[in-house]
Amino acid sequence: MASEHDALRLAIDAARVPRHVAVIMDGNGRWAERHGEHRMMGHANGVNAVRETLTGAGEVGVKYLTLYAFSTENWNRPQAEVEALMDLLVRTLTSELDSLNENRVRLNAIGDLDKLPPDCLRLLREAMASTAGNDRITLTLALSYSARWELMRMARRMAEDVQHGLLSAADVDESAVAARLATAGLPDPELLIRTSGERRISNFLLWQIAYAELWFTDTLWPDFTRADLYRAILDYQQRERRFGLVSEQVKA
Ligand code: FPP
Repeated sequence: MASEHDALRLAIDAARVPRHVAVIMDGNGRWAERHGEHRMMGHANGVNAVRETLTGAGEVGVKYLTLYAFSTENWNRPQAEVEALMDLLVRTLTSELDSLNENRVRLNAIGDLDKLPPDCLRLLREAMASTAGNDRITLTLALSYSARWELMRMARRMAEDVQHGLLSAADVDESAVAARLATAGLPDPELLIRTSGERRISNFLLWQIAYAELWFTDTLWPDFTRADLYRAILDYQQRERRFGLVSEQVKA
């Protein structure tokens, strides 16, 4: 018998799958609370949802999946939770590396990575190097990331390039900005998903989501499945993306 996600997957138009899907994974803490568990159990179960989403994205031909795993602001959480999240990242990278390679997943990371604990950063760099040749899907983890940090660093890089005579003010255009962002080389996301009922962007990919379709669900992140991803993609395929044009122009 076909499962629910198989039926949803078959309804997706393969020619119009978003190339890049970005996800704000939210609600791990509330999931834990509802199950009478410690917050960390919410994060641990969130890893299953990451695996599920990555598999589902690969199955329908999404080429880039970007996950907001740890924000600049998350450093201000209680120290025990920050340490446990870093520990979870280390354990997950270690246990999933073979599977990433078997499934031809290229691992990438964006953010102020030098702020990560040294063992975590070393493992992350090793995992990125080990998966660098994979071409099925690029999984980008946003770690110690915020869009304002990224835009501030872009402005600094640009000022330095002007100072060193590598760039003139007249040459500053969209591509000059994009090339100095952490996402340089990645296409912009066409679809942004946020779980847990919140309808905010929370400092995520502000430049890159200029034309993204937004999709919100009340589902808490640990309960998110590939069926939910497929619902988001199906909803995206129903929408007309106009990029500032009128409907007749888009149809022509
Ligand atoms: C948001 O839930 C989730 C996070 C801040 C961390 C996300 C981490 C994972 C899903 C696991 C680790 C991921 C990888 C890739 C190894 P919240 O804690 O803000 O939930 P709440 O709003 O209900 O408190």
